[in-house]
Amino acid sequence: MSSPVPDPAIAGPLREALARSNYNTGGVMVALGGDAESSPGDAPVQARRLGSDDQAVLVRLFLLGLDVDADRARTALAPARLEDLERGRLIEVDGGGRVRCPIRISPFEGLLLAHDPEVVEDPAPDIVTGLNSAARTLASLTPRRPAGRALDVGTGSGVQALLAAKHSGHVVATDVNPRALAFTELGAALSGFDHVECREGSFFDPVEGERFDLVVSNPPYVISPDAQLVYRDGGLERDEVSRIAVSGAAAHLAEGGLAMVLANWVHQAWEPWDQPLRDWLEGSGCEALLLHHLSEDGLEYAAKWNTRHRRDPETHAQVLDRWTGYYRDAGIGTLATGGVALRRRGGGDPRITTAEMATGPAGKGGEHVLRMLDAAALLAEGSADSLLATPLALVPGHRLHRERRHTGEGYGPETVRMVLDDSAGLSSEFGPAVAAILVGLDGTRTPGDLVPLLAQALPGSDDEIRDAVLGAVRTLLEQGLVEPAATAD
Ligand SMILES: C[S@@+](CC[C@H](N)C(=O)[O-])C[C@H]1O[C@@H](n2cnc3c(N)ncnc32)[C@H](O)[C@@H]1O
Repeated sequence: MSSPVPDPAIAGPLREALARSNYNTGGVMVALGGDAESSPGDAPVQARRLGSDDQAVLVRLFLLGLDVDADRARTALAPARLEDLERGRLIEVDGGGRVRCPIRISPFEGLLLAHDPEVVEDPAPDIVTGLNSAARTLASLTPRRPAGRALDVGTGSGVQALLAAKHSGHVVATDVNPRALAFTELGAALSGFDHVECREGSFFDPVEGERFDLVVSNPPYVISPDAQLVYRDGGLERDEVSRIAVSGAAAHLAEGGLAMVLANWVHQAWEPWDQPLRDWLEGSGCEALLLHHLSEDGLEYAAKWNTRHRRDPETHAQVLDRWTGYYRDAGIGTLATGGVALRRRGGGDPRITTAEMATGPAGKGGEHVLRMLDAAALLAEGSADSLLATPLALVPGHRLHRERRHTGEGYGPETVRMVLDDSAGLSSEFGPAVAAILVGLDGTRTPGDLVPLLAQALPGSDDEIRDAVLGAVRTLLEQGLVEPAATAD
């Protein structure tokens, strides 16, 4: 069983000590020469990069999980008193004058997150994980707009709730694991927030009948026969966890509200990957952008989620047999990974668009998500003529890579790849004609302005060029690569 979570009452003076020593993402990066995080096995190398000042003492204690001299800790932790921190379960003192911290405090995007240390083998069932790739994916994909009320379902360390707290008036964080809620309270206090409210309960039970302007969830979506790890195994059949998270998010959105939910779901090899998600959203009254990262067969999926057993081939084989047997018996052919962005707009039938994520998101991926939602609305509501007359602009922060692949026959045709700094992870590649349209959209021109220009360079009638421009512009808008130009007031 896991150790008790430190008492959030210790947070005030501890926060002061951490701030005084610049214990934040930038400060820790400088101290460690580029890293602001530590995985098991990194500590011996990282510790050797540290100096001997108070900041180094705090990094050893709270990020690397190393023990330090009690007298040095006493100085570095002031005004927090070592005795109070020991009583509050943040510090353990051994008989030999050394102290250690049983939890981790991770700086992230201006926040301080409290969570359990990463455990590679045999984690406790109620472990509260820190920053992992799913947490970062959701953090990036979530649109960051001022919100009145925000909700984080399955809050864990509280990372999504605390990120939402930066741009929301009030945040409700729910979890079935009381340890997760205690960590979230501690992280909120260390980050200086008093508007994050923790509620214990399953999925949306603690917020029945309430509506939110932002809903985020990284639920325990892994589809398996196991129910050991509360952060990973929802303990429900098939993809029921993801169905509850997606449909629940839609049901709890206020008018104009946004949701971002990570999900795993089952689809049959012969059906489109998005069909189950469309079924879940039927009648939801929300616009949706369905993001698909990958679809795997049961064995690939089971192998991916059980790498921790690889060192013990017998157990590994048993687990793989159990998981693949479950998929076979349940008629589960293909398991998909992705996310669902929602916006409640006026009720009625949902408008649903899809996109493929070739990679994880980068930077503020939520900006890209919002542009794609906006583009879907623009394309659904406007006519071809209105689109031709809309000034469009390239999005700031992108690179164009022009490539020609060499084959035995010489160089092939040029392709152009567009890479966004703030990206939802799409891969956008097109030919030179579309690239010419793209770079022509400089914020002053409309797609209609480009038709006569292109007619001089390309074969085809005016109507054919117009249709080609419209087709290209629709794709560029759908993929969030261009946007309506800002109009001067
Ligand atoms: C994958 S972790 C996500 C943690 C955190 N939100 C993040 O992004 O890193 C899933 C979380 O859901 C919680 N959880 C599991 N079953 C739940 C349920 N039925 N209702 C609400 N939360 C649940 C777990 O305790 C865990 O904290």
